[in-house]
Amino acid sequence: MVNIEKLREEAISSIESCETISDLSKLRISLLGKKGSIQGLMVQMKNLSNEEKPKFGQVVNSLKQEISNLIDEKNSLLQEKELLEKLEEEKIDITLPGYSYNLGTTHPLMMIKEEIEDLFIGLGYQIVEGPEVELDFYNFERANIPAGHPARDMQDTFYIDVETLLRTHTTAIQMRVLEKEANNLPIKVICPGKVYRRDDDDATHSHQFMQAEGLLVGENITLSDLKGTLDIMAKAMFGKTRNIRIRPSYFQFTEPSIEVDVSCHMCDGVGCPVCKGTGYIEILGAGMVHPNVLEMANIDSKKYTGFAFGVGIERIAMLRYGIDDIRNFYVNDVRFLNMFNKGE
Ligand code: PHE
Repeated sequence: MVNIEKLREEAISSIESCETISDLSKLRISLLGKKGSIQGLMVQMKNLSNEEKPKFGQVVNSLKQEISNLIDEKNSLLQEKELLEKLEEEKIDITLPGYSYNLGTTHPLMMIKEEIEDLFIGLGYQIVEGPEVELDFYNFERANIPAGHPARDMQDTFYIDVETLLRTHTTAIQMRVLEKEANNLPIKVICPGKVYRRDDDDATHSHQFMQAEGLLVGENITLSDLKGTLDIMAKAMFGKTRNIRIRPSYFQFTEPSIEVDVSCHMCDGVGCPVCKGTGYIEILGAGMVHPNVLEMANIDSKKYTGFAFGVGIERIAMLRYGIDDIRNFYVNDVRFLNMFNKGE
């Protein structure tokens, strides 16, 4: 009995001092396991008298029960403690500054393109795109530039085969729209996209660049509608106090054709290096859609008229931001691109 009491005290104190779950389970085995010390007491039974045996057995059993309960209690305590420790360890300090993500910026050409789109959507136009690998038919034939016509020389062309080419102007999209929407007038579209010309790249030329084309066809559309529309566009792109000036020009697909200048946003029309002293900067080509173009698309040119204009996106961006080399747009130097954070 003395031994039992001693064993009990030792067991209780080692359970109490146990610090980890794994130590506790070792302790459980050494106390309650088959070869454990409490089991060992049972072995002593055989040395006892028959009267002593049941009493002894009872005491050992209740000791077993008590120790087992104590170990269970301790086990849940330790589990809770370990959980708390783990939570503490994995705690996230939300006051730490986060990682800063390097967000890209909108490309300046996209900014100009989207600005033009937004402006014309506001005026009731729709945005239409078309293929960059285009048929000669839409790029030239339908634009009133038949094979062999000297006007083809105005746009040096990358041909893929006799019928296929890289479109030289967004006017090709216009021709597709005219064909498709001939019975669905009026047409009011803006057609932005990349175009290609067989030019040697330098500060002001690129074999690939972007245009946005505007087209409006309906009844009673006149040159003054075109002029008013371009005036709105010039003011939106270059400032409210700008005005435009139109000069006669030549395109096969418009008649009359005009070229449009905007008063210089740098010197307000006084004359400076940007406008080469003239006070005006050429920004786009335009005109009234040629009757041949309408007729080829099965639109009655006696009843309907229309205007079209084509603007170079790079040119607008270069003027707006004072960029002197068109190649800056294509090399994607982040130092250049980062200068165009929207809103700054
Ligand atoms: N397609 C012409 C060009 O690329 C621009 C233009 C478009 C002119 C529409 C008139 C009307 O030079």
